[in-house]
Amino acid sequence: MFNGTNCFSDSVAKGMQGKSLLSINDLSHEEVWKIFEVCSELKKQVKAGAVNHLLQGKTLAMIFMKPSTRTRVSFEVAMWQLGGYPLFLNSQDLQLHRGEAISDTARVLSRYVHGIMIRTFRQQDVEDLANYGTIPVINGLTDLLHPCQALADYFTIYEKRGKTKGLKMVYIGDGNNVAHSLIYGAVKVGMHITIACPREFQPLPGIVEKSKEDGKTQGIKICVTHDPYEAVKGADIIYTDVWTSMGQEAEAKKKVDILRSYRVDGDLVKAAENKDVMVMHCLPAHRGDEITNEVMDGPYSVVFDEAENRLHVQKAILALLLQDNYK
Ligand code: CP
Ligand code: NVA
Repeated sequence: MFNGTNCFSDSVAKGMQGKSLLSINDLSHEEVWKIFEVCSELKKQVKAGAVNHLLQGKTLAMIFMKPSTRTRVSFEVAMWQLGGYPLFLNSQDLQLHRGEAISDTARVLSRYVHGIMIRTFRQQDVEDLANYGTIPVINGLTDLLHPCQALADYFTIYEKRGKTKGLKMVYIGDGNNVAHSLIYGAVKVGMHITIACPREFQPLPGIVEKSKEDGKTQGIKICVTHDPYEAVKGADIIYTDVWTSMGQEAEAKKKVDILRSYRVDGDLVKAAENKDVMVMHCLPAHRGDEITNEVMDGPYSVVFDEAENRLHVQKAILALLLQDNYK
């Protein structure tokens, strides 16, 4: 897959230039693998201490309407490592916060910068930003999706297992934004995915049904079930996320009560009956709730490699979408 030749010179890379990344579902299989190929190259280069200023002179506006550690820092460092300039824009300080239209914000920012990364609540706002602006928009998390996270997760699996096709991921807990992007992503990388969640917190049926349909020809199995122990049997990857996502704080108590039996602990990991099982979490983790310390810090956990790969995958995304001087 990674042939080491100039990964920007083919038609897939050229076709991605100037596009937005709003959902993994919008990417073709080839585009997902192109991101992984460029990611692998850039990761190798930076580990070897090489400087690669592919985005010299480019600027990225980063709008945050919710808190962030990984997304903010990894995008900021990604732009810096690529020779570009990231602008951190806290929504509280923007006129958006006082009611300026997202469409006007999109038009104005398109006159100043080369790309926008946004973390917000409504997926529609990200779509509007892309529709009204003239520059690439990258979804840095909405209530519905978290595409950059899922791309980093599948790249991590590819890196560790040398393949993704035919592997089984079992996502345990809240059927949330991360679960949605993992479902869309599974179809792109040929993986089976089971969501083990309570009836009250299932992923959106529309996303599940569409992905089932899209994955049919490849024989991809996408299931939603309610028994975590049954679900994890034979899992290659056990994945979990917080029970209360940003913006759902009012529901926190109810969610903890209902999700208590979906904790990823040593017994659940053992139930996978796979000595090579990997445990993943997008972080931040609420240790003791959705995942125990024993598992987070245990031998099956790859959570910090996964977090590191946000940086490398996003460098690839930025380079593919914002670079315009292909040789
Ligand atoms: N995983 C993730 O997106 O982390 P942050 O909320 O810290 O950005
Ligand atoms: N589901 C979580 C992911 C955080 C990265 C949230 O939306 O808060």
